[in-house]
Amino acid sequence: MKFTNKNILITGASTGIGKALAEKLSHIKCKLILTARRIELLKEIKANLSGNKAAIEIHQNDVSNKEAVKQTKSKILGNIDIAILNAGVGGNVNPDNYDSAIGEKVYGTNVMGLIYWIEELLPQMKKERKGIIAGVSSLADNRGYPGSSFYCGSKAAASIMLEGLRIEFIKYGIKVITIKPGFVATPMTANHKFHMPFLMNSDKAAKIIIKGIEKDKKVIEFPWQTAVGAKFVSLIPNFIFDKMVKKQMGQ
Ligand SMILES: NC(=O)c1ccc[n+]([C@@H]2O[C@H](COP(=O)([O-])OP(=O)(O)OC[C@H]3O[C@@H](n4cnc5c(N)ncnc54)[C@H](OP(=O)(O)O)[C@@H]3O)[C@@H](O)[C@H]2O)c1
Repeated sequence: MKFTNKNILITGASTGIGKALAEKLSHIKCKLILTARRIELLKEIKANLSGNKAAIEIHQNDVSNKEAVKQTKSKILGNIDIAILNAGVGGNVNPDNYDSAIGEKVYGTNVMGLIYWIEELLPQMKKERKGIIAGVSSLADNRGYPGSSFYCGSKAAASIMLEGLRIEFIKYGIKVITIKPGFVATPMTANHKFHMPFLMNSDKAAKIIIKGIEKDKKVIEFPWQTAVGAKFVSLIPNFIFDKMVKKQMGQ
């Protein structure tokens, strides 16, 4: 099994998909390195999973802070074999609350968070000529959805960046995987007012992600219905797209 006896980093492990990944992987003999800003939540998770097979190390970390990422990496004992860079934030933005601070937070976490962590992981992985970097993007990377324009933009940047890195890193034996979930029931989506088609729970999402990494997939996108739908939506002409999403978002 790909995860057995490996050191596995999960960023954004305090809630949602990251927490579900930690719970699932804790049944495998491996070391889980869990990070997030809310250390109290990580302590609870560590206590709850302590009876399982995995050894668990937790670190408080803000992925949008380059220095903090550097420091956290330096505190991690041993090398990282698999990094699931999952930390992410939403950020509702509209003409009435438009604020670059929201943009800084969303891009700082969803894009710079990946860039900072990859910068820290790369030297060791290059040296060992192996490693897996799985970055969590979104199926919302396909278009700019109203209210989520910063989020969609950040995920489009993440997906495109991960795709390029995937090809570039091959020569060092490092695998880069892009994870693109559709709607998953987590604190991030808990307050969404619009209908979320094919909404799945975080446990199922974690299962699909783990299976996808096991199978060496380049892109793990789910659920398949939303993944197929997203591809069609990206082909829809603007005048139809605008009307369609306005209706969907209740605008
Ligand atoms: N839920 C969905 O429908 C959906 C769909 C597509 C993609 N995704 C992506 O899946 C990933 C996980 O999201 P989720 O749905 O599980 O949401 P979530 O429950 O809100 O989890 C987000 C995680 O990221 C962490 N985080 C946020 N900002 C951070 C920062 N600056 N530094 C470090 N950690 C940070 C949070 O921990 P702290 O607040 O404790 O730091 C939390 O553990 C995100 O990248 C998200 O964009 C989710």
